[in-house]
Amino acid sequence: MGFYVASNRMLTALAVGVFFAVFLAPAVAQSGRARATADVDLSARLKEVEGNPKLLEELLKTGQKVAAVCSNCHGDGGNSSKPDVPNLAGQNSAYLLEQVRQFAEGQRRNPFMEGMIKALKSDEKIGMVLFYTRQTVTGHKTNASAVLQARGKDYFNKICWRCHAEDGHGNDKFARIAGQQPVYLEATLKRYRTGAGARTDALMAASTKLMTDADIDAVVAYVSSMP
Ligand code: HEC
Ligand code: HEC
Repeated sequence: MGFYVASNRMLTALAVGVFFAVFLAPAVAQSGRARATADVDLSARLKEVEGNPKLLEELLKTGQKVAAVCSNCHGDGGNSSKPDVPNLAGQNSAYLLEQVRQFAEGQRRNPFMEGMIKALKSDEKIGMVLFYTRQTVTGHKTNASAVLQARGKDYFNKICWRCHAEDGHGNDKFARIAGQQPVYLEATLKRYRTGAGARTDALMAASTKLMTDADIDAVVAYVSSMP
């Protein structure tokens, strides 16, 4: 057991290292001015950058370079083609920054993503967030039946819209979920429902506590099909 844990960690560290050596090192070398400190207030920095057109342009370029690394899993422009990897396109900046914080502090557990986020400088994180929030979500196909989607819509319109908005696009506080990848959605909702483990959130635990697996199937069918 101990051996497996240790070797998994080593493999993760190795995988992250290889990704950076191959893909990101040149980008980092070019954006030498990126801030290196971990204690930068990312929300304040984001606002500062958004209010300064020249800086914004510069960090959008940094973000595009970072996103080229992430595209191996999250797809071009953050439109994932893997059902178990989330889209980042069109996601809200406050939500993205919060997930960056959670991965960096080990609150949301995913060894690979924790490593990726820890390896980014603060302006690379800001650039990445700025870049993804500006991308359009393209794929919203689902194979689910119309009946299942309609059931999911009813459920969504009773509970989920209150925070994630009627169109599922969220707002400056809550995540966009419209068009999100179905396998990822299902896994995420089931994780929140257990109220413990790799990903927890009090509001989402309360919102999923009463969901049956069938409710989750229906909601996933609807939400993943939302434009
Ligand atoms: C090897 C594949 C892989 C690569 C490369 C990768 N990611 Fe991820 N990422 C994932 C997976 C899988 C998840 C879902 C993790 C989970 O929920 O446990 C994820 C989740 C995320 C999330 C949370 C999204 C959400 O909707 O909550 C963010 C933000 C993120 N990744 C950013 C990045 C950035 C930025 C990069 C590039 C620097 C990157 N990822 C590279 C696989 C990857
Ligand atoms: C009371 C507010 C609230 C309600 C109602 C709510 N959510 Fe959430 N939701 C949140 C918050 C807050 C988060 C971010 C939690 C975190 O950081 O992990 C979230 C995150 C999510 C995520 C993760 C997004 C991602 O990209 O990983 C999904 C999926 C989600 N909610 C789906 C739903 C569904 C489906 C419903 C209805 C059954 C619902 N939510 C109802 C507040 C809410």
